[in-house]
Amino acid sequence: MSATSPDPQEQPALTEPFEIGGVVISNRVLLAPLAGIGNWFVRLQARRYGAGLAVSEMVSSFGLHYGNEKTMNELMRIHPDEHPVSMQLFGQDPEAMESAARIAAASGADLIDINMGCPVPKVRKTGAGAELLADPELALDLARAARAGSGLPVTVKIRSGLMPGDRSGFDLSVRLVEEAGVAAIGFHPRVAKQGHKGRPDYAMAKELTEAIDAPMIISGGLSTAEAARVAYEESGADAVMIARGALGYPWVFAELTGQRVDPPDPAEVMDELLWVIDCAEDHMGTERAGRYLRKFYPWYLDRVDVPKLVRSELCQTAGLDRAREIAREIRDGVAVAPGFRRLSFARSVKKDVRTRS
Ligand SMILES: Cc1cc2nc3c(=O)[nH]c(=O)nc-3n(C[C@H](O)[C@H](O)[C@H](O)COP(=O)(O)O)c2cc1C
Repeated sequence: MSATSPDPQEQPALTEPFEIGGVVISNRVLLAPLAGIGNWFVRLQARRYGAGLAVSEMVSSFGLHYGNEKTMNELMRIHPDEHPVSMQLFGQDPEAMESAARIAAASGADLIDINMGCPVPKVRKTGAGAELLADPELALDLARAARAGSGLPVTVKIRSGLMPGDRSGFDLSVRLVEEAGVAAIGFHPRVAKQGHKGRPDYAMAKELTEAIDAPMIISGGLSTAEAARVAYEESGADAVMIARGALGYPWVFAELTGQRVDPPDPAEVMDELLWVIDCAEDHMGTERAGRYLRKFYPWYLDRVDVPKLVRSELCQTAGLDRAREIAREIRDGVAVAPGFRRLSFARSVKKDVRTRS
C-alpha cells in the first residue's frame, strides 16, 4: 500500500503537499509531459496557475549524451521560477541514460522522469518508450542508470500494457519501485495500442496504488478539473497529472487547487496568449516562434467565442506582430465580423440573431 495514501477514505485533498523521493511537492496537481509542448514557458505557465510540479516534454537521452545543440540549449532550458521541475528523458541505452541524467541534473532538474509509455512507432522502434515494457530488465537498468547519473529521485511514466489485456506495465511498475528504487510512478492506464483514446482503467491504477510503496500519479482522461477529481478518487492516486486538459487552459490548475471557480473571460484568455507569444519569441526567435505557435492558437481560441474569420486568420498567420494584433483585438472586443459588437457581448448577439430568425 502506498505510504502517502493509506486508505481511499482518507485520501488527502489535492491541495495537500506530498513528497517524491524527498522532494516536497506543494500540491497534488501536476502538468504531464507533452512532447513538442512542455518547454520552460508552458511548465512555468502551469506553475503560475498553481500546479505543484511540471514535467518536461520528453528529451532524447542521446541528444544530451552527444551534446546536440538544440537539445542542450532549448529543451534543457529551465526558468528559475519553475522549481521543482522534472525533466523527462527517453532512450534505451543505459550508458546514454546515465550521462543524460547527469546533464539534466547539472542543468537544474530536481527530478528525472523516464518515458516508458510513448506509443509512437518512431520511438518504439528504437526500443524506447512503451517498447521497454517488452524488456523489463533493460527498463530496470535504465532507471538505475538515471539514478546513478543524476543522484536525483527518478520517476517513471508508464502505460499499463502494450496490447489489450496485457498488464506488463503494471508488473514493471511494481518492479521499478522495488528493484530499481524508482521514487514515483506516473501511470497511464491505457495500453500502447489505444494511443490516447478510450477510458483509462482507473481500477487497475487503484490496484497499483495499493501494490507500490511510492506515490502513484494518475494520468489519462483528465480533460477537465471535474474529470481529474473523479480519476483521483477512483484510482486512489497520490496525485493527478493533467495533459490535454491543460492545453490553452492553465486555469485547470487554479480550479483544482481551489484558487478559482469561474472560467476565464475572453480578455484573460487573450492576455495569457499574449504572454505565451512573448515567451515563445524569447525562446526561439520571431520566425520560428511564428510557425511553432500556430498549433497553440486553436487551444486558446476554443475558450472564446470569436467569429470564424478571425479564428482562421490567427491560426494561419506566421507573423507574431499580426498574431498579437488579433489577440489584442479579441481581448478588447474589437475583432469584428458582421453581427458582432464587443466580444463580451458575442454570445448574446448570436442568441438575439437566432431568436429573430
Ligand atoms: C501531444 C501529446 C504529447 C505527449 N507527449 C508525451 C511525452 O513527451 N511524454 C510522456 O510520457 N507522455 C506524453 N504524452 C502523454 C500524456 O502525458 C498523457 O499521459 C496522455 O495525454 C493522457 O492524458 P489525457 O488523456 O489527460 O490527455 C503526450 C500526449 C499528447 C496528447
